[in-house]
Amino acid sequence: MEFDPRTDRLPFNESDEAEQAPAGATELSGDARIRHLQRVPLFSGFNEKELRRVAELARIVDVPAGTAVTQIGEPGNSFFVIIDGTVAVRTPVGTGAQLHPGEFFGEMSLLDGEPRSATIVATTDLRLLVVDRSHFWRLLDETPDLIRGMLTILSRRVRRLEQTVHAILHGTNPT
Ligand code: CMP
Repeated sequence: MEFDPRTDRLPFNESDEAEQAPAGATELSGDARIRHLQRVPLFSGFNEKELRRVAELARIVDVPAGTAVTQIGEPGNSFFVIIDGTVAVRTPVGTGAQLHPGEFFGEMSLLDGEPRSATIVATTDLRLLVVDRSHFWRLLDETPDLIRGMLTILSRRVRRLEQTVHAILHGTNPT
């Protein structure tokens, strides 16, 4: 099962009606959603007001194992934070990292407007926090700590990639 690449929405979330109350979306009270968010390291420094804002601008979606959440080369319209579960990242240089609870993906297409840079496949059932394009910049504007956290992780990913390229070119492990 894959996300609809045109909309980056899960197949069960295709109709307008479903978009209001997606069958696979988890109906949680505001407080329950905030408790989920408190477990996510990316939001660890957030105060109550910021967590509430994240909960307002995001939705929580359950995704079965095997789902391709993003498809390389396709347009992307959502940013994802893993609440529960694990995904595998397949980039043009091969299958790379596994991402775990608290980690995020899907930010690149929202930041630069380019197609998805990697295919992300759920290796277990997932619970995801999903922020759509229409809310992404507002969320970043209102939560500078999220920008800091995201930049730190992006720097780490660039470093890891450069080390991988170095190892491929030189047949050595630079670390
Ligand atoms: P995006 O390009 O929107 O969709 C695919 C996502 O995979 C991408 O955003 C990143 O979040 C993630 N991604 C791409 N390359 C890597 C990498 N080398 N390590 C971890 N995650 C990655």
